[in-house]
Amino acid sequence: MRSFLGRDILSLRDWERMEYYRVFEVCDELAPIARRRRNSDLLKEKILVTAFYQPSTRTRLSTEAAMHRLGGHVVGFSDAKMTRAGDFYQESIKDTVHMLEYYGDVIAMRHYQQGAPAEAARWASVPVINCGDGWGEHPTQVLTDLYTIRRELGTLDGLHFLCIGDMRMRTMHSISYAMTQFDIQATYVAPPEMALTDDFKKELKERGLRFREADNVADVIGDADVIYMEPVVQADYTKSREEARKDRGRTPPQYQVTRDLLREKARAQAIILHSLPRVDELPPDVDSTRHARYWIEAFNGVVLRMALLALILGAME
Ligand code: CP
Repeated sequence: MRSFLGRDILSLRDWERMEYYRVFEVCDELAPIARRRRNSDLLKEKILVTAFYQPSTRTRLSTEAAMHRLGGHVVGFSDAKMTRAGDFYQESIKDTVHMLEYYGDVIAMRHYQQGAPAEAARWASVPVINCGDGWGEHPTQVLTDLYTIRRELGTLDGLHFLCIGDMRMRTMHSISYAMTQFDIQATYVAPPEMALTDDFKKELKERGLRFREADNVADVIGDADVIYMEPVVQADYTKSREEARKDRGRTPPQYQVTRDLLREKARAQAIILHSLPRVDELPPDVDSTRHARYWIEAFNGVVLRMALLALILGAME
């Protein structure tokens, strides 16, 4: 297994099964710190730089909270418009990163351009964590998802995932790569204009994923152990920011998971994950069903990022 020390976390495409388990093992070791709400001093000599060129609630704050829980320090920006990358100068990734690498020991970056964190990693002498890049990938979210599933269902093998929503989403790419490392079957349900691309399907087949596509959640939800959701009423992830529109539309019923549908057709022990934020594809009254697991991810997301930071920065071997 490759060492995590000094490693960039850019994509799950090349992650191997044992690497997931090593991260989950460290999660279990560090979780008591977060559970007790008492910070440790594991990373007290280290600084995290957060460079967020796109809005975020969960990813930025949980990454920062993780660093604080480990006794580390945090500097950064959450609005690139207030930096030279977002004003008249449009400072390049290369020039920006050549500065940031001296301000901290690891850079957590979200960007609207696919590949921007990989570009940053080319120039940075410190590790870079991809916190979501355009329609690219979102590895830390998916590691949080898998850690949650393993805790909730006890395994990642022998499961059937139902992936619903916009397949251009970065989570859908990362989860698809991750699924190839486990005994997981997948069903994808998406509007035709948001379906998996032919190139990506070819790649998933080459990587050994057993999957099918369907048109309507109601036809296939009964097969699912894990219901994995994203909106289909969607922002443009290639933009730095998109304002809410009154006419943004509604989710067609075939891409919704409702309380009635769960009661009528879902397996008793199926769990629902949604990376959030949601629109109307997952009505709030589902939150109180036994299927919902998306809130526990707020806690697990901190723990997962604690584990990654500890491994990357050498506090855990
Ligand atoms: N899950 C997720 O990426 O949420 P944020 O956009 O709020 O970070």
